[in-house]
Amino acid sequence: MVRRTSVVVAHRLSTVRNSDVIAVLDKGALVEKGSHASLMAKGLEGKVSWTVCLSTLDQYPFYSSVVLVSPQSGSLLVGERGIQISGGQKQQENILFGKEDATAEEVVEAAVAANAHGFISQLPQGYDTQVRSLVGDRMALLIQTLSAVAVSFTMGLVIAWRLALVMISMQPLIILSFYARRVLLMKMSAKGIKAQLESSKLAAEAVGNLRTVTAFSSQSRILRLFELAQLGPRREGIRHSWFAGVGLGSSQGLTCCSWAITLLYGGHLISQGMISSKAIFQTFLILVSTGRVIADVGAMTTDLTRGADTVASVFAVFDRKTPIEPDNADGQRPESIRGAIELRGVHFAYPTRSEAIVLRGLSLSIEARKSTALVGASGSGKSTIIALIERFYDPIRGAINIDGVDIRSYNLRSLRRLISLVGQEPTLFAGTVRENIVYGTDHDSVSDAEVEAAARAANAHEFICGLSDGYQTSCGERGVQLSGGQKQRIAIARAIVRNPKILLLDEATSALDSMSEKVVQEALERVMVRRTSVVVAHRLSTVRNSDVIAVLDKGALVEKGSHASLMAKGSEGKYYGLVNLQQAPHQSQL
Ligand SMILES: Nc1ncnc2c1ncn2[C@@H]1O[C@H](COP(=O)(O)OP(=O)(O)OP(=O)(O)O)[C@@H](O)[C@H]1O
Ligand SMILES: [Mg+2]
Repeated sequence: MVRRTSVVVAHRLSTVRNSDVIAVLDKGALVEKGSHASLMAKGLEGKVSWTVCLSTLDQYPFYSSVVLVSPQSGSLLVGERGIQISGGQKQQENILFGKEDATAEEVVEAAVAANAHGFISQLPQGYDTQVRSLVGDRMALLIQTLSAVAVSFTMGLVIAWRLALVMISMQPLIILSFYARRVLLMKMSAKGIKAQLESSKLAAEAVGNLRTVTAFSSQSRILRLFELAQLGPRREGIRHSWFAGVGLGSSQGLTCCSWAITLLYGGHLISQGMISSKAIFQTFLILVSTGRVIADVGAMTTDLTRGADTVASVFAVFDRKTPIEPDNADGQRPESIRGAIELRGVHFAYPTRSEAIVLRGLSLSIEARKSTALVGASGSGKSTIIALIERFYDPIRGAINIDGVDIRSYNLRSLRRLISLVGQEPTLFAGTVRENIVYGTDHDSVSDAEVEAAARAANAHEFICGLSDGYQTSCGERGVQLSGGQKQRIAIARAIVRNPKILLLDEATSALDSMSEKVVQEALERVMVRRTSVVVAHRLSTVRNSDVIAVLDKGALVEKGSHASLMAKGSEGKYYGLVNLQQAPHQSQL
């Protein structure tokens, strides 16, 4: 941040104490401004000093809304997002195109993680009209053609059989040319769809991450990328029109030739006195109009081809089988469980990066109705364990048991009904606050009182009541109309309302300020009573009351015990080291 103007927003006071200027906001107004020292000097009168005291007393060395303004840098926030964009894109390509054995879960995960919804949202475009044209129009065409052919051939043969035979014998040639054109176009339209996919993915991603794109001023770069991505489709499009043009031209040329031959032969027949000129024109007009019907069928095949391609790509997604069957019919369907979880010698690597082993023979037993905390450095595999307990993935080796039964023997839907997850990045859906809270339950069976109780427990009731329409307020697409902490509290309420036996909290309170965190933490502790809970947290102060703390390092369990027993190990212990590291800045604040 040296020699750059930087604006930092932080909940953790320790991260901002060295800033040149600290601006304190409260309910949208600036209440204090100055250096850390000058603000602290105000004593208990001052907001900062008061909060530091409060958080120190409560072991929460963090504060709500601290905005730092200093004449320095600003690449941290946005830099992280930049990595996310490029990383995401890569992952999505791998999953959707590189790996045929990707599970549905992974596809959905990739779609969500990397905005591959470009791919998904492209499918239904004009899908229904194309399917309708495929089924309805095909039938109509078939009947129309068959009846036209039968009637006109009969009439032609009755009126002037020699001429009719010549014309009929030329029909297959015309049909053949239309058919060849159709096959060519079919191949090319499939190629075209694939080429178009790239650019629509890019566009969807850019629109989805509009803020990041604007923050980086990378509009022109995105446009350039889009133009590049359009090159393929354009080339395909040009080839396509060449073939289509030549195909159409030759089939129409053939039609004209057949007319010329017919009239020539007809003239010859008249000169021989074999038929009258009236009969020639009758036969000619009848058979030419039939030829047109057949030609129309040929022309419409292009549309039908496109329809067939769309249907094929939609069914390809529908037919995709996941190795993890969510509704396994033979699986056990427990009404209730105790909630003892045991990981036994679990080896795991993500299917998209199978060379990077994330868990190496991890064994960990999580007692029923107790709280177990997972701590460790970033990337040590905490969220991965949560994902394995939810069975988003299966371990490569080893097993995960719940109540002594391998989770692969359960009916996954029934099992997941008993588990609630609050993830690291809370996801909300377009819909009202209430809909978001009751999401994942049988909507009608949840009363307003239950929704409110869950919201109260998650410390969300107050802010929800402050919204324009209370529980009926729309969250906006992906919850964009709410702050990070508000989204997290709604996600917690959603987990609570399901009344789960196992509660998985992955950094569930990381986006809250110290005051809300404390309240939510207390609420969570109340909710965690008599439930198995697995808590992941970076702030060790939030997990010190857990019954068991498991310390992970590079995918292996290195320590396990209560806070007191782990602290008793002294400087030898990993956990002791982590706690000391986190306490260091806050002790120096005093
Ligand atoms: N979807 C994924 N595909 C491939 N690799 C992944 C995926 N998710 C995580 N990883 C890798 O697995 C490792 C463990 O990740 P995990 O998310 O479990 O870490 P964590 O302990 O939860 O970290 P943090 O505290 O930062 O959330 C990391 O090295 C990460 O790069
Ligand atoms: Mg994580």
